[in-house]
Amino acid sequence: MSAERRFQSQRLPAESENATATLDVYFHVVYANETYEGGYVPDSQIHDQVKVLNQDYNSTGISFNLVNISRIQSEDMFLRVAPDSEQEAGLKKVFRHGNASALNVYTVGLAEGDGQGLLGYATFPMDFAEKPLNDGVVLLYSTMPGSSQPKYNLGRTLVHESGHWMGLYHTFQGGCTGSGDEVDDTPPEESAAYGCPEKRDTCPGGGPDPIHNFMDYTDDSCMTGFTKGQAKRLKAQLRTYRGVDV
Ligand code: ARG
Ligand code: ZN
Ligand code: CA
Repeated sequence: MSAERRFQSQRLPAESENATATLDVYFHVVYANETYEGGYVPDSQIHDQVKVLNQDYNSTGISFNLVNISRIQSEDMFLRVAPDSEQEAGLKKVFRHGNASALNVYTVGLAEGDGQGLLGYATFPMDFAEKPLNDGVVLLYSTMPGSSQPKYNLGRTLVHESGHWMGLYHTFQGGCTGSGDEVDDTPPEESAAYGCPEKRDTCPGGGPDPIHNFMDYTDDSCMTGFTKGQAKRLKAQLRTYRGVDV
């Protein structure tokens, strides 16, 4: 709530509803060995992943330009990069590229420690000022389009994590009470939805749960979009904290 109050007081005025911007993207592939299971994803999968980003963000006016793919061999980092781990700090301080508006994506194995079981995680725009080197998205390599992982192999994990990186919360943030995800046109939701539970409705009023929204937890194939309100919020966050002219 204090982050939200700060945002509302610092928020820069809107440009126009139809403003667009292109963000630079830097991919960092961390691998244990040169096999797919070792995290050595082919360039083609990264290009496909950026295509998915561009398609899924098309309605928001944000597009993505892949600038570089770097490859980093480290079994320790592949296995152990996790939120606030020493391996994460070591990786990001050497490889993070660009200013606040550059999206850095680190693909890793999320196999051990606090990262175990995660599909990905991201930093928020507001945190850039204090910890610029920590900024970016950490992504489980096998969530990229075309991997054999069931349910999460259409590349929507990066769409979701990039949503956080642009200041969006989960649709179930705050449950049924209060201002929820701070977006007016996403109905409130009591908890995360998994699979694709059509007609789920967990909160009184507001309508059925937004299970098709990229910021819920449903299967990749269930997710279809962002709302206008989310597009508006992410642009305001990009303007205010990432210096993007949008
Ligand atoms: N932050 C979530 C996790 O790590 C990501 C959910 C992504 N959902 C998806 N369908 N790809 O579990
Ligand atoms: Zn999330
Ligand atoms: Ca909402």
